[in-house]
Amino acid sequence: MIHEQLKEFPENFLWGAASAAYQVEGAWDEDGKGVSNWDMFVRIPGKTFKGTTGNVAVDHYHRYKEDVQLMAELGMKSYRFSVAWTRIFPSGRGEINEKGLEFYDHLINELVRHNIEPILTLYHWDLPQALQDEYGGWESRKIVKDFTDYSIALFKRFGDRVKYWVSLNEQNIFTMLGYRMAAHPPGVTDDKLFYQVNHHANLANANVIKEFRKYVPDGKIGPSFAYSPAYPLTSNPRDIIASENAEELNSHWWMDVYAWGRYPKSAWNYLEENGLAPTVEEGDFDLLREGKPDFMGLNYYQTTTFEENPLDGGVSTGQMNTSGKKGTSKDTGIPGVYKTAANPNLERTDWDWNIDPDGLRIALRRITNRYNLPILISENGLGAFDKVEDGDVINDEYRIDFIRAHILAIKQAISDGTEVFGYCVWSFSDLLSWLNGFQKRYGFVYVNQHEEGEHDLRRIKKKSFYWYKTVIESNGKKI
Ligand code: BG6
Repeated sequence: MIHEQLKEFPENFLWGAASAAYQVEGAWDEDGKGVSNWDMFVRIPGKTFKGTTGNVAVDHYHRYKEDVQLMAELGMKSYRFSVAWTRIFPSGRGEINEKGLEFYDHLINELVRHNIEPILTLYHWDLPQALQDEYGGWESRKIVKDFTDYSIALFKRFGDRVKYWVSLNEQNIFTMLGYRMAAHPPGVTDDKLFYQVNHHANLANANVIKEFRKYVPDGKIGPSFAYSPAYPLTSNPRDIIASENAEELNSHWWMDVYAWGRYPKSAWNYLEENGLAPTVEEGDFDLLREGKPDFMGLNYYQTTTFEENPLDGGVSTGQMNTSGKKGTSKDTGIPGVYKTAANPNLERTDWDWNIDPDGLRIALRRITNRYNLPILISENGLGAFDKVEDGDVINDEYRIDFIRAHILAIKQAISDGTEVFGYCVWSFSDLLSWLNGFQKRYGFVYVNQHEEGEHDLRRIKKKSFYWYKTVIESNGKKI
């Protein structure tokens, strides 16, 4: 629909920005912190861009006060961050490391003092290595108890001040890259295991949500899902079926479980036929149904376009662009299911991500129509090369254009009748991009951190910082 007049953003809209522990904190072995799977993985040669690690990241652990001060200056209403499980339980379970809780206590208090609503993510990919070694981490059902105990420790300690919680960040991405593409820890390629790991993660997610109700009854919790709406390449019904396949297997497979506690039928049927369906035990579906979220967290970066992929000789392996050299990614697919295709209507970033603000509106509408849940946009942003000009000026007009167009899309979606209560731009400051090093920058605040050369970690406000400040001040009227 084309609206004559767009609705305004609701009052108390949670304008904000986001980060994740491994990508910002550094201090990887300080104050009793244990070793995570990422601490180990980045040390394997060739896994990350130029061998970057999160040892120091952008040193938020030591500079959080300065960072929160900058958030306050930006006028942020919310800040989404994650807790490093290994700071709280260095070996994944057992005795609590008080120093770890203290760090987040201080961070939360600092946020609250500046009227910034903390949005706490329980799990943003940094699993205690001890649990991976002991029972394969997400590969075992034992993870459900350990993840729940860890989460309860946080509910008890922070539940008085933190009212918004994200359970799992992008379960679809960390399992896909970890168990199908071997690009994230534990570096495995095993389709069957991938679905089993996901079933365990679904149980863990549901159990934690169920427990949350006891400890933070006045709080809200939901998972953050990386939703990339599927488009058909053409109006050929076969491309449409390919696109439906993608929607079922790549999105409903997770979101249906979060919202309804069941797997989508045609996807399940496909997995059974191919011997890939996870083993489900008695009572699992009861638990999945009991752990209903209050909202759907949406991490939106791009849409993906699909076409038919023949069963014989179809495309299966693709290639990710982690260098920032445009055009180096390759399409991927599953023979007989779908293959990805370039969308001729969309521009791409230097990392070959489609730029598609309308896709955000589509994502918001699809989620609303299917699940009827309020939505927190928990990530959205542009990864780009930024240049510091004379006088410490960073003219990131391209980022402003990107975010402006996406805010307009949210406004349109709100006018369409969706309920969106927050927008966390990825990211507040520059940070470590898991596989792409420090050169792929997302922040409103530049951090002088590089793979090579001088890096004194100083913070510099980009042009987008000043622009976003006026957006927030005007509650989205001035974009
Ligand atoms: C999301 C993650 O997938 O996208 C973030 O939740 C991540 O942690 C962000 O950094 C951007 O991805 P990338 O690969 O460009 O860093």
